[in-house]
Amino acid sequence: MVSLEVVHASNARLKELGPGLVALFVGATSGIGEYTAKAFVHNAISPRVYIVGRNQDAANRIIKECETANKDGKVEFIKADVSELSEVDRVCKEIAKKEKHLNLIFQTQGNLNLRGRDESSEGLDRKMALNYYSRMRFISNLLPLLRTATTTPPHFSRSVSVLGSGGGTALDTADLDLKNTFTGSRCAGHTITMNDLMTTEFAQRESGITFSHCAPGAVKTNLARELPFWARTATKVLYQLITPLTVGQDETGARQLFMATSGIYPPSKPVEGAASASGVSPDKTIEVTKGASGSVGDGGYNLTWKGGVTNGKMLPEYRQNGVSKTVWEHTMNVFARVEKINQERGNVK
Ligand SMILES: NC(=O)c1ccc[n+]([C@@H]2O[C@H](COP(=O)([O-])OP(=O)(O)OC[C@H]3O[C@@H](n4cnc5c(N)ncnc54)[C@H](OP(=O)(O)O)[C@@H]3O)[C@@H](O)[C@H]2O)c1
Repeated sequence: MVSLEVVHASNARLKELGPGLVALFVGATSGIGEYTAKAFVHNAISPRVYIVGRNQDAANRIIKECETANKDGKVEFIKADVSELSEVDRVCKEIAKKEKHLNLIFQTQGNLNLRGRDESSEGLDRKMALNYYSRMRFISNLLPLLRTATTTPPHFSRSVSVLGSGGGTALDTADLDLKNTFTGSRCAGHTITMNDLMTTEFAQRESGITFSHCAPGAVKTNLARELPFWARTATKVLYQLITPLTVGQDETGARQLFMATSGIYPPSKPVEGAASASGVSPDKTIEVTKGASGSVGDGGYNLTWKGGVTNGKMLPEYRQNGVSKTVWEHTMNVFARVEKINQERGNVK
């Protein structure tokens, strides 16, 4: 657990990483992504930031607020519905045309609705695509830019997915994409556990990059906007009742920025001779964190909203008995299947 004082002090030192950090925030037209993107712009020197979502008006407002917070920052909106992987691919191509490297990918795309399985023409449930497949696709597509960030000063390269780490749910390996057994709670459980496992899978393959999956706690956001009226009302009442237990907007932005940049979450093999490759240098009161594999500083971190480690009870077993590898292979197979579908439809963007 990291104190808010340590969080703020670390964020204030983000400037130590130097000017021109490049970051992508997917799902930053609202909520946790918005709060974190603003905290990043506020604390970084001359950052270049891309925010992705569907709501142009919200993006315009956020860009204005960022310009006020940091006149040397540049924030650009890329409008996309990333519940479809063809759109993820289009966004990644657009970014790759503009940038040679990317220091941070921060993903919070998601919704809360009571629709059952809502399958896109790519054969994926849209909520599962938002929570999981689109996030892994952004990371996979943009790995070349993350790798270039490891070889370019300040050698800082990170990926953060915010969903609900802790892997509390057993996976149905016969139906990982829940084609046949979808329910809202199974969708949440599967995508959380799969995000958890993929932090280690990516970290083991990419030693210069940190991969994290973070929980946000209970945060008042627009997450309930797609719920029916009665459920939105119930959510409002619930939020009122649990207000003392919720995490405020500024604290959320600050804590998520800390998890995205602090040196207590280094990659497994940061570039030698560049302290900034590990992130913002931590103060003496906190230590480098134990990663998801159980080793200190292993480059893959599943984190609570307060920045501590959380590993669901079946995750170590899943890593040992091959389920984690199954999830990796399943994900790559889904990508190949969707690519084929899009090629056949002439939908390659
Ligand atoms: N808030 C909490 O207490 C809480 C707790 C646990 C987990 N989480 C998880 O944290 C993540 C962020 O939640 P939040 O509370 O910040 O929600 P939010 O305020 O609703 O933000 C969600 C973001 O995702 C974007 N998004 C949704 N559908 C999209 C689509 N099809 N294409 C592109 N962008 C899309 C939204 O942008 P547009 O509307 O512009 O498309 C918005 O920027 C979610 O995965 C949520 O499940 C939240």
